[in-house]
Amino acid sequence: MQNKIKNICCIGAGYVGGPTMSVIAYKSPDIEINVVDNNQERINLWNSSNLQDLPIYEPGLDKIVQKCRGKNLFFSTNVKEKIAIADIVFISVNTPTKKKGLGAGQASDLKWVEICAREVAKYSKGHTIVVEKSTLPVKTAEVIKKILDSSSENYRDNNSSKSFDVLSNPEFLAEGTAINDLIKPDRILIGGDRKEAIEVLSEIYKRWVPENKILHTNIWSSELAKLTANAFLAQRISSINSIGALCEATGADVREVARAIGSDSRIGNKFLDSGPGFGGSCFKKDILNLVYLCKYFGLPEIAEFWESVVTMNNWHQHRISKLVVKKLFGTITGKKIGILGFSFKANTNDTRESAAITICKDLIEEGALLYIHDPKVSPEQITNDLCKKENKSMTNNTKNLEGEWCFIKDSKNVFEGADAVVLLTEWDEYSMINWDNVSKSMRKPAWVFDARSIVMPDKISMTDLNFWRIGDGFQS
Ligand code: NAD
Ligand code: UGA
Repeated sequence: MQNKIKNICCIGAGYVGGPTMSVIAYKSPDIEINVVDNNQERINLWNSSNLQDLPIYEPGLDKIVQKCRGKNLFFSTNVKEKIAIADIVFISVNTPTKKKGLGAGQASDLKWVEICAREVAKYSKGHTIVVEKSTLPVKTAEVIKKILDSSSENYRDNNSSKSFDVLSNPEFLAEGTAINDLIKPDRILIGGDRKEAIEVLSEIYKRWVPENKILHTNIWSSELAKLTANAFLAQRISSINSIGALCEATGADVREVARAIGSDSRIGNKFLDSGPGFGGSCFKKDILNLVYLCKYFGLPEIAEFWESVVTMNNWHQHRISKLVVKKLFGTITGKKIGILGFSFKANTNDTRESAAITICKDLIEEGALLYIHDPKVSPEQITNDLCKKENKSMTNNTKNLEGEWCFIKDSKNVFEGADAVVLLTEWDEYSMINWDNVSKSMRKPAWVFDARSIVMPDKISMTDLNFWRIGDGFQS
């Protein structure tokens, strides 16, 4: 097997494939990197001359793409051709929760991963290292290897033989900080059963990651460590959100409790911000996948333990919408409510599993008129997420309307005549709002619901606005 990697192919130009390959290209000018995807529209956006149009918003990504694209970083739909010339193929495709059949609602749907394995078996030449970048259930590598070995038999041509190594190399980047996470990772995890293959992949990362941060494990530990990391992180958020609700009931303040417990070096102070409930494409899906695995391996008590993290999150999101209704005298029919933030966290345009979806759906169901702003999410995306068309006429006339929404381009315009505003994403621009000014245009009695702790209470106390803040027993 050659140790000098000259060509990498990554299947999947999504939130992981795009940024990860961009950073590898940036740090490895001697390697040609081809990111392939069967979504032509997405590939066109990756190739757009206007860097504002990249399909993914990540701070710093545009500069790296500008530096490398067309030199050693290429985006295309040429799956077959790019697999054929690759020494390493990363599989970075989506692995959503299965919607039907065995394990529906919990197990990961590996359909796309399986298709990739078959394509690699068919088109690869010589020896190829196949890397699982997608988050996968334990033992998936075994399935991939079986597909590669048996299918490649069908496609072997007379002159060449094919062989494969399968490695697990899960990604730990978080959206919004992806570039920083990729350039300065806490660790790189590589699981595999052949030392030589692990070394080849490690050599790529060693170009910018200190050697002591590159961890080698067996393949099953690597696959399970990824699911476990997400389960632990999500569990922390459900834990602090549960305590937040208790704070509201008892007069305590969740920020003070978080600071107090976070100073214990065994607990640590990160990931203790109470919010509207965790979103994002992975926490829920990965925990449910873990739950499914536990059940599959005959461990129902452990399955129940982890499932409670998701149950708590669902409860918490509905708790916030119920609270808004309660504070607005038990009815919000026809009332105007501004929604500040729709993405699942700041600095990303991703709305997958965003708490805003659940909360907005609940408020619409109660008859509210929502004026939704987000600096990076498009009205088309919100339409998809809410499964409901935008009512553009709402900005002029609201007579007899109930349970509708519209998109507001400039956040300044969500306050006019509003009975309440609900802060759901911690975008920087929302922490600069001059509450004294905006309160003048709201309909009194008006409320500010801050589910992200970004409003300073003293800035509100100077106004005639009512204020509710997550986990704040003083204000409740
Ligand atoms: P994504 O949906 O943004 O991107 C996946 C891409 O794969 C899509 O563009 C799709 O068109 C493409 N694709 C699917 N099948 C294909 C095929 N056969 N040939 C070519 N292209 C194909 O998904 P993502 O957010 O990048 O996540 C990918 C994986 O990484 C998932 O397993 C996820 O759990 C994991 N992960 C995601 C994150 C994150 O922050 N989003 C972080 C770590 C790990
Ligand atoms: C998460 C993990 O942090 C990554 O390590 C992992 O690679 C990724 O999932 C994945 O596998 O997809 P991500 O979902 O992008 O990354 O974002 P996080 O920063 O983890 O936030 C997830 C959710 O938790 C967001 O809705 C966020 O607002 C919420 N959160 C986070 C809180 O409510 N409080 C906190 O203290 C931290």
